[in-house]
Amino acid sequence: MDPNLTWHVLGSNEEVKARTPFAVEIEEHSIAVFLHDAQLHAIGNRCNHKGGPLCEGTVTGEYVKCPWHGWEYSVITGRGPTGYDEEQVPTFALREEAGLVSVATPPLMPRRLIAHKPLHLLEEHLKPADARPRILGISTTAMDDTNPRFSTSDILLQHALTHAGAVLHADTQLIRLRELAFRHCEGNYSKAARACTWPCAITERDPEDQLTAVYEGLVHWADVVIIATPIRWGRASSLYFKMTERLNCVQNQVTIADNVLIKNKVAAFIITGGQDNVQEVAGGMLTFWSEQDMETNVRLVRASEALRSASADLVGRALMTWRMIDEHRAEMEQPMERTGRKAQRLNRPGQVMA
Ligand code: FES
Repeated sequence: MDPNLTWHVLGSNEEVKARTPFAVEIEEHSIAVFLHDAQLHAIGNRCNHKGGPLCEGTVTGEYVKCPWHGWEYSVITGRGPTGYDEEQVPTFALREEAGLVSVATPPLMPRRLIAHKPLHLLEEHLKPADARPRILGISTTAMDDTNPRFSTSDILLQHALTHAGAVLHADTQLIRLRELAFRHCEGNYSKAARACTWPCAITERDPEDQLTAVYEGLVHWADVVIIATPIRWGRASSLYFKMTERLNCVQNQVTIADNVLIKNKVAAFIITGGQDNVQEVAGGMLTFWSEQDMETNVRLVRASEALRSASADLVGRALMTWRMIDEHRAEMEQPMERTGRKAQRLNRPGQVMA
């Protein structure tokens, strides 16, 4: 018997088998106990990735899948499946004596972590001192690009970026969400706060997922972001929500690590649509963007000549828009011609459009 091992009684054979899978904390070790092929096995309970609790994972054959993001380990050897078997969680000795099951510390095999190249998103991205201001436009408009249509929010966003480049001497970048293939948020936050990781666990494990462009743009590149959305049924575009759900990993860093990833930046919105619910759409969109830097609001308003001048511009634009409406009142009151079944019905011979 190894004199370096210290044995800890877990319970009677039947009790322990009936309780599996379960975890126990012994000294500094968190140990998961599994039953496989009628044999008890003990491995480290904390996943090598971000510490997910393996005893809560699903077991298929000899492999347990971490409940947080799906890394797998053999409950017998602690190793990953073929191809990933350089990685290992600790394994612990078990014994049965006089009907009692005990586990030994320290582990028989220690944890083995392969040094992965850090994701580009985690690297430092220094901005050269003489770099021009950077403006990122994000279009959230959904559209079939093989059969495009005129999108008011898209056009205004493009106009804003062209102006920013040509007149304001800013570098610009346009991301159209509809051109990115990215997955829905999988709600890892609901499993545990630390299960929602930065970078997003989907980004880490799925090289095909293209939301990296948005993370990169928002966190590392842009000084100003302009988000454009149409109003759809009184809400922002569904692509906007699909994107912001995936930004939970950014917000979550504030909560769990006091790490504000989007700071000292400005977000602006282009929201177009009918009269339906624009206030709520704008308010709903601000939920995410204002939260990133909510403590500086008062300081910013006190210090910022730009904000004072923007509020003056705002009233000027409002007045200018009203003048435009007033000058074109007759034209504005003409019915809008649309194509589609409704319009065809209205345009039947002998009928006059209302
Ligand atoms: S897969 Fe286990 S913590 Fe991420």
